[in-house]
Amino acid sequence: MSEGWEELEAAAIAVRKNAHAPYSNYQVGAALRVRSGRVFSGCNVENASYGLCLCAERSAILQMVAAGERDPVAIVVVTRGPILGTPCGACRQTLAEFALDLPVRLLVEGGGSRTTSLAALLPDAFRAEALKD
Ligand code: THU
Repeated sequence: MSEGWEELEAAAIAVRKNAHAPYSNYQVGAALRVRSGRVFSGCNVENASYGLCLCAERSAILQMVAAGERDPVAIVVVTRGPILGTPCGACRQTLAEFALDLPVRLLVEGGGSRTTSLAALLPDAFRAEALKD
């Protein structure tokens, strides 16, 4: 299964418009593809109780799981601003639950991009194997 970056970029840019980010004014869109080829997207959803803010990457993962899918093969994250926004630590660990070495493309809308991997962003992630007896 190829990443299909262009379709993911378009989906992430589109969903970013739905972000609920009245507190940070920092809208984030994420779109991932799973092995079956389906695409799931998510945006950040903020809350007046700031600690409840949900990131775009985890929003996309929730969509994937709720649809009964697993096995992400690529993700695009779109932000704005002077530098590329990289996934926060919580999102890295959430992505690692489903794909330790997921290809990740970071994109500033109307700006630059960088393609990396989750293994590079989160080396030595905590893994479910550690829980075994
Ligand atoms: N945010 C994301 O959606 N993804 C990240 O990986 C980092 C941060 C959101 C959370 C919050 O709504 C806004 O960006 C500012 O932190």
